[in-house]
Parts: sequence; structure tokens; C-alpha cells
Amino acid sequence: MADSLDLTYGDATQSLAVTDGTIRAADLKKIQTPDGPLATYDPGLLNTASVRSAITYIDGDAGILEYRGYPIEQLAEKSTFLEVAYLLMHGELPNKTELENWNYQINRHRLVHENVKQIIQAFRYDAHPMAKLMAAVASMMTFYPSARRVEDPDARMRNVHRLLGKMPTMAAFAFRHGLGRHYIYPNDELGYAENFLAMLFQAQQPKYVADPRLVRALEVLFILHADHEQNCSTNAVRAVASAGNDVYTSCGAGIGALFGPLHGGANEAVLKMLREIGSLDRVPEFIEGVKNGKARLMGFGHRVYKNYDPRATIIKKAVDDVFAVRGMNPLLHIAVELERIALDNEYFTSRRLYTNVDFYSGVIYEALRFPPEMFTVLFAVPRTAGWVAQYEEHMGDTEQKITRPKQIYTGYAKRDYVPVDER
Ligand code: ACO
Repeated sequence: MADSLDLTYGDATQSLAVTDGTIRAADLKKIQTPDGPLATYDPGLLNTASVRSAITYIDGDAGILEYRGYPIEQLAEKSTFLEVAYLLMHGELPNKTELENWNYQINRHRLVHENVKQIIQAFRYDAHPMAKLMAAVASMMTFYPSARRVEDPDARMRNVHRLLGKMPTMAAFAFRHGLGRHYIYPNDELGYAENFLAMLFQAQQPKYVADPRLVRALEVLFILHADHEQNCSTNAVRAVASAGNDVYTSCGAGIGALFGPLHGGANEAVLKMLREIGSLDRVPEFIEGVKNGKARLMGFGHRVYKNYDPRATIIKKAVDDVFAVRGMNPLLHIAVELERIALDNEYFTSRRLYTNVDFYSGVIYEALRFPPEMFTVLFAVPRTAGWVAQYEEHMGDTEQKITRPKQIYTGYAKRDYVPVDER
């Protein structure tokens, strides 16, 4: 629906077109103020749409998350991660031949150049795996210079296949480097998630066999984390892509953004919180501390979801499967009790604070034997499917320009240089 907004400033009134509930920020320039053409000030871009996207839909109030129109609940139950990655990239679910071809194209690119091992090897033994992953991904542009032909759709897609194929390999190498273990190469007989588990955890056995329930749980976690519209890291990917960059350089920036504790690091914080609480009898005391502003209940609340996070509901089901295989993690009892008390407490309900995706994912990752510093890596691997889809959409969007926000200058007016011995 197209509408209009009459904006009066001083003596002048301008009629601004309203489309899709937005005005064009550039239209505001028609209005002159003493400081120049009118603009908006929006730190954190809380109320600014910067793209038109057909990939992911979120209705935070209703707890809806859809990829290309398909509810996340259906995809998590029925689909596979690679099929979801195809859906995000191409907009439709693949037919059988398309899916086989897509899986083949990605899986055949799982091996990395041997020099990538040396790049990871150059890090200190205790370096964070996200830093190793970021460096490895950024380096890929040098191994595959065709990626710089960003105007060529075939070259772009070939490098998307490569990145999706190699992400688990680089993540697993980063993990094993920290443990001082030899690297395990990809195995063509294994699917995406199962092969990832093998590259992470295979020891001396000639063949790594993962419990199918664990493979499916990881696959579900991957599907849930594949995309989440214009979040911080996706915005970083698009901003870097807008300068004409290749997919590796752009996604390397996305990994950097995801690394931040306000973005990808919250599940690590949940685990720390559960460990600090330590036992069931200390839960009420902790909740009182949260109500008194001494701590935050990590894994609760969300900027967008205000009734429930649909991903959290799905993860809770995966928890049962993982614990059926790995045995109960005592931290889960604490998590369940925290949730039970919080969901029945006025402090949380009045602020519309509910369990988010991170509340249970950390507990699952720990049960899968991942150390906390790997949690964000486990987010980065599947989120690459979203980043590459958003990258591709950005590259095909003729409305987009290099990202270059305005600023409101608050510094000094012009002044003259003073030599150092006169200051
Ligand atoms: N525990 C206790 N109180 C909380 C929490 C929490 N987890 N989250 C919000 N509140 C309170 C705030 O103190 C504030 O109370 P007030 O109105 O009395 O001042 C009110 O709820 C609103 O909080 P905001 O911080 O304004 O909400 P915002 O939308 O900006 O923050 C956020 C959302 C960052 C997710 C927040 O809820 C939070 O810090 N949660 C814990 C961290 C976390 O789990 N992050 C993962 C999010 S999911 C993801 O990124 C994949």
C-alpha cells in the first residue's frame, strides 16, 4: 500500500511517500534545516530499514520465524541443513536432482588448501577458535582469486559452494589445533553434520561413528541458526559486500561481528551463569539477585521476540535426544528450575522476558563435548548459509550502494595548528 506523510518544518510542508511502512530517508533531504538537509539519527539502526529482503521473516510479537515463507518448526522437523541452505540461497526448496547436485557441489569442496593448516598452525595453542576461523576464511580469497570477480554470478556461486563446504573443515581444524590433535580430513561417506562431528572428535578409531540422534540434534541446531534477517553480523557482511568485496572477505567480517558477546556469545554466558549458580537450592537466591539488578538472567529476553523465541521451543526437544545419548547434565536441572521460576514471576512476565535460543543451546553443546569457546564457532558454521544468501541478494540488488552512514559532527570548529613547544 502506498501512502504519504505530510511533514511541516517552519513554513514549508513536504509530502513524503510512505511505502511498506517506511519513508525514503533520502526524501527528507527536501526539507532544509539551519544545519542542512533533514536526516534521521538512529544509533544501532533500531528503526531503519537498510535493505529489501525476501529471505527471512520474523514477527517478534507472534513468535514467528520463517525462511522463504516456510515456518522454522517445519524445517527443523523435516528438512536438512543443506536443503535449508539451498532454500535460503535460491528461494525455493530444491527438487531431488537439484538437492543432489547442491549437496554434491558443497560436499566436494570440503577439503581445504594445505596452507590453510599452516595459517591455523601459526596461532598460539590457546588462541580463540573464532580468531582462527576468521583468519582462515579471510585467507580464502587469496586461494580462490575468482571470488574477486564479484560481477560474475557463476564465479560467485562457485565460491559460495566452496565456503559452505569448507566452513566445517576450518572450524574443526581450529578446534583440534587448540587441543594439539592431528587434523581429520573430510570423509565423503558422511553427510554435512556427521562429517563435521568426525572431523572434530575422531581419535584413533579407523572410522568415526556418531549416534544418529546426536547428528540430528546438531542438524536441527544448524537449521535454527542458519539465518535471522538483518542482525549485527549479517549487516556487517552486507556492509563489507557493498564495497564490492568477495564472499570470503565479507563473511570474514560477519565472523568478527558474531564473535561479540552481545551477539553470538550469549550461550557461553548462559553456561557460565549455570555453573556459578551451581545447585538447585541457589536458584531462588539468583532470581532475587536478577530482580534486584545484580545480574541478568542470561538466555532470557530478546530485542525482537517478546512472547517466545520459536527456536527455544524447538531446542528444548533436541535437549531430550542429546541427554538420552549422553546422560543427564546436572546443569540442565538448574536451567529447567530457573525457567520454571522465571516464567511464573511478575518481574519477567511484565517485561515480556522469555527463554531465548541461547538458554538451552549451551547445555546441548556441552553435552556434545564442546568447550565453551567453540559455541560461537558452532553458530558461525550454520550462519554462513544465511550470510551467503544475504550476500548474493545484496549483489543482485540494483538499489544498493556502498554503505556510508551520515554522522552528526560534535567536534571542534576549524582551528589552527599550534607547534608542539607552544602548546
Ligand atoms: N534478565 C533480567 N532482566 C532483563 C533481561 C534479562 N535477561 N533482559 C532484559 N531485562 C530487563 C531490563 O533490565 C529492562 O528492565 P527495566 O525496564 O526495569 O529497566 C527490561 O527488561 C528491558 O530490557 P532491555 O535491555 O531494554 O531489552 P533489550 O531488548 O534492549 O535487550 C537483550 C534484549 C539484549 C537480549 C536482553 O534481554 C538481554 O540482555 N538478555 C540476556 C542476554 C541474552 O540472552 N542474549 C541472547 C539474545 S538471543 C541471540 O542474540 C541469539
